[in-house]
Amino acid sequence: MFGIYVHIPFCLQHCHYCDFATVTRNDHNEKETYVNYLGKEIQFHSKFVSHRGLSSLYFGGGTPSLLSPKMFEKIFFYLEKAGFIITPQTEVTMEINPGTLSKEQIGDLVDLGFNRFSLGVQSFNDDFLKSCGRRHSSSETRSTLEHLKYKDVLINMDFLFLLPKQNLKNLQEDLKEFLEWNPQHISPYGLDVPSHHSLAKIQPSEPIQTRMYKFLWGELEDNGFQQYEISNFCRNNYKSVHNRLYWNDFSYWGIGLGAHSYFNNDSWGYRFRVSSLSTN
Ligand SMILES: C[S@@+](CC[C@H](N)C(=O)[O-])C[C@H]1O[C@@H](n2cnc3c(N)ncnc32)[C@H](O)[C@@H]1O
Ligand code: SF4
Repeated sequence: MFGIYVHIPFCLQHCHYCDFATVTRNDHNEKETYVNYLGKEIQFHSKFVSHRGLSSLYFGGGTPSLLSPKMFEKIFFYLEKAGFIITPQTEVTMEINPGTLSKEQIGDLVDLGFNRFSLGVQSFNDDFLKSCGRRHSSSETRSTLEHLKYKDVLINMDFLFLLPKQNLKNLQEDLKEFLEWNPQHISPYGLDVPSHHSLAKIQPSEPIQTRMYKFLWGELEDNGFQQYEISNFCRNNYKSVHNRLYWNDFSYWGIGLGAHSYFNNDSWGYRFRVSSLSTN
């Protein structure tokens, strides 16, 4: 198994809890320039990568859904030109944010080869979304889920909990709606911010956090979800190939701002990050 991770750093806002490599910009020319640089990185660095067949191609962010389908077409072209092989069996995932893709754009992306979408739902409670600095509303999340449901694609829903002022009843209400959408995959993440962060001061107390974990983990399993790594649950064995690569010591190449790679070429393997683009 081998996979490629492509980082897309653009975001419409900076969520209060986020420490991923992001920039709060959505300018067409800047995105074009970034895609061109991805092309150069693929062209000049792919010669150091011995694998060509892709088990997984994963676009993470940031907010990859801010790129147009045409921009993805270009990235696919660069990858294929460098000899990487994407087949119908390749898991091709995009992280998307609610309210950033129309039904037509989702159709175009599926036509391009995307077969898995990871939606940053976080919560269906608008107060929590607001307090975390999210830009979208729960009704935008529902429309994006409606668009996805019309397509034959795998859906992951990111589920953020241990939110400021959250209690067990709020968590139960959120979980109910997550389960009603019946996705193949749910990734529950306990909100993790440094202790001096303003959100940390209003998170549930530790004993409540423990009850929340036990409640969520138990309910997901009672509803047919299997936990296959720390924050990943799936139904009917729809484990993500991308996650399995990371957890099972397979090689992956990370492209774009801040992306890390891992190559299991000898008994220990090695990890690295490219800090500047050399075109020699
Ligand atoms: C790469 S991130 C971003 C995906 C997408 N841009 C979004 O925000 O919906 C993937 C997931 O990590 C989780 N996450 C991000 N920051 C976190 C934090 N500080 N603590 C816990 N989970 C976090 C969120 O659930 C998020 O959807
Ligand atoms: S949209 Fe996602 S990646 Fe962007 S700032 Fe918010 S949490 Fe971070």
